[in-house]
Amino acid sequence: MASSSLQSPIAKKLEGKVALITGGASGIGAATARLFIQHGAKVTIADIQNDLGNSLVRQIDNNEHIMFIHCNVAIESDVQNVVDATVAKFGKLDIMFSNAGVAGKSISSILDVDSDTIKNVFDVNVVGAFLCAKHAARVMISNNTKGSIIFTTSAATVVYGIVPHSYAASKSAVLGLSKNIGVELGKYGIKVNCVSPHYISTPLTLNALGISEREMGEKWFAEGGNLKGVLLDEQDVANGVLYLASDDSKYVSGLNLVIDGGYSTTNVAIGEAYKKLFPSGVILFMTSVTTVVASSSTPHTCTSSKSAVLGLSKNVGVELGKYRIRVNCVSPYAISTPFMVNGFGIDKQKADKWFMEAGNLKGALLDEQDVANGVLYLASDDSKYVSGLNLIIDGGYSTPNVALTEAYNKLFLSTTNK
Ligand SMILES: NC(=O)c1ccc[n+]([C@@H]2O[C@H](COP(=O)([O-])OP(=O)(O)OC[C@H]3O[C@@H](n4cnc5c(N)ncnc54)[C@H](O)[C@@H]3O)[C@@H](O)[C@H]2O)c1
Repeated sequence: MASSSLQSPIAKKLEGKVALITGGASGIGAATARLFIQHGAKVTIADIQNDLGNSLVRQIDNNEHIMFIHCNVAIESDVQNVVDATVAKFGKLDIMFSNAGVAGKSISSILDVDSDTIKNVFDVNVVGAFLCAKHAARVMISNNTKGSIIFTTSAATVVYGIVPHSYAASKSAVLGLSKNIGVELGKYGIKVNCVSPHYISTPLTLNALGISEREMGEKWFAEGGNLKGVLLDEQDVANGVLYLASDDSKYVSGLNLVIDGGYSTTNVAIGEAYKKLFPSGVILFMTSVTTVVASSSTPHTCTSSKSAVLGLSKNVGVELGKYRIRVNCVSPYAISTPFMVNGFGIDKQKADKWFMEAGNLKGALLDEQDVANGVLYLASDDSKYVSGLNLIIDGGYSTPNVALTEAYNKLFLSTTNK
């Protein structure tokens, strides 16, 4: 009978496999160790941080399926020892996750680079990767194991200028190494791949960038990331490594699995330069004073259509703000343009007289030039922080309501005068 439980057990993708993870005491390596154990692997953690490595082993299952061995990947005897100790305890080696790495000194100019800086980074990141591959291949070939060798490289192998030169060069060296080794080891059925993450706020990154709090790093990486609303973390990289380690990727070799939310596929420079060099975009709508004051001489369709445009402009302004596009309206009082003159069936002189008589600002007549001046203001950088505005050019026509005065005059002044 089928189980009544709705929860199915997770499919263990590494059952019976043995893995060695360098740099496994912290960050990506530690997350991968936990995931590999959940998926049934036996795991050796190799790191220079003994306390952290031992405490992780105790947290996971106290040495039965996982052990910690001190190993500096830059020293060949250490690497040889940890590989041999893994085979001695767990019987074989199926997965070498060469993940230990250092960021090196944050030097921004090639002029400041010295050979010590280069050597420190290359010893761990490149020499370490060579040694891990060498000793993993040694036991995989001799035991006829169709293994998987995975290197942690970096998004710095596909997008440049975001890390120190020595670090970028070291990770590119490992990428090249992995592809070359993949060709050599293909005949033994050993696959060789890289995983290349974008920034994650691990101790390596935070120390290198001089950021004290994880939250600050996360805020920055979220803001600068291409894929919005998600943040890369160690678990995401571990998931990629699990794929490359398991038989799910049995025909994948020579891959650089870039986990960067598409960051490396874009180049924001052209957009940034545009923003710097050119004024932001402007959209202007011609509305009307009828958006703020209605009158019986204005058709309903005119008032409602111009009000619709005003609403549209404000809504569009919200959408386009992120592109630095300003959206505004210009709402003039009556001008004797052909539109008006023809609409009311009167000549221009009569119309001017009428509009002047009804206007609030006495002695002045609104004309096309006044509206053009307002449009120029909204179109130019003079209004660079103005968006969502209805620029009413009506001499204050829309501010009073003359009905009460008219009624007073009609009802009382006329009686008094009688
Ligand atoms: N965090 C990121 O933003 C990021 C991005 C791309 C690639 N990477 C790479 O990921 C890998 C893991 O780094 P992380 O981000 O998890 O940082 P982390 O600081 O959490 O882990 C790095 C681990 O490597 C160990 N290590 C350093 N030198 C060693 C050596 N000589 N021998 C053995 N172990 C050593 C450290 O003790 C540490 O436990 C590194 O190769 C790093 O270059 C990290």
